Amino acid sequence: MKRFLLGTNWKMHKTFQEAEQYAAGLKKLAGQFPQYTYFIIPPYTHLREMKEQLIGTPVMIGAQNMHWEDQGAYTGEISPKWLCDLGIDVAELGHSERRQYYNENDEDLNKKVKAALKYGMTPLLCVGEYAKDKAYAVTPEVIRKQLKIGLFGLTKEQAASIWVAYEPVWAIGESGVPAEPEYVEWVHGIIRGQLTELFGDTGKDIPVLYGGSVNPENCLGLAQRKDVDGLFIGRSAWDLESFEKIMTLLTKNGIGGTRNG
Ligand code: 13P
Repeated sequence: MKRFLLGTNWKMHKTFQEAEQYAAGLKKLAGQFPQYTYFIIPPYTHLREMKEQLIGTPVMIGAQNMHWEDQGAYTGEISPKWLCDLGIDVAELGHSERRQYYNENDEDLNKKVKAALKYGMTPLLCVGEYAKDKAYAVTPEVIRKQLKIGLFGLTKEQAASIWVAYEPVWAIGESGVPAEPEYVEWVHGIIRGQLTELFGDTGKDIPVLYGGSVNPENCLGLAQRKDVDGLFIGRSAWDLESFEKIMTLLTKNGIGGTRNG
């Protein structure tokens, strides 16, 4: 049975010292709430230390991006091979901030997904529509396109090792408006439908996480929805007190252990 996933993307936050303190605190919390699988996605410079500090715990470590080539003339880029050498578990690919500010596109993301799989990492492919797409009612088309190109050419066996995160661009960050649980369930249904169209029954088991302004107030309503297999949290998980509130609430309400839907 699949475990409910709780993860956080640190973006460009936390000093090295803050990261060390966070890891020590999260280790304790993971012991108190053992029914979840956790993942943290720190900046590259903290990866080795975080991996060492959290080894033997149910906390997986992810990278915020990577190149698809093993090596080459790509100044400023990070090789999937190096991440693999560090024992990195998850490769976050196509976060909306990467798509928005660094021109990530679906075709390159497809190469990155394949490179992550080649090196035994779990690709966490992020998809999501802009406010404009939502206003023009093309969310299903946008999401399907991101999935069809991003996951193009994967075998069912490979698809069994991926995670998908639904992160509507308009819901993310300081200026984000949290998505309504009904809307999230609707889009997760579209994602599930596309994944099963691509990969048959394997598509039913691919974890689909929700991310975008998740906080202690709205986490339960979101986590209870069909096809929400985990929460991918930014701000509300950078502070362990608020992350703990989320764990407590979910636990009290029976979220965890098995996935919904
Ligand atoms: P916030 O929870 O801060 O909106 O960020 C979500 C996110 O970007 C997770 O990848």
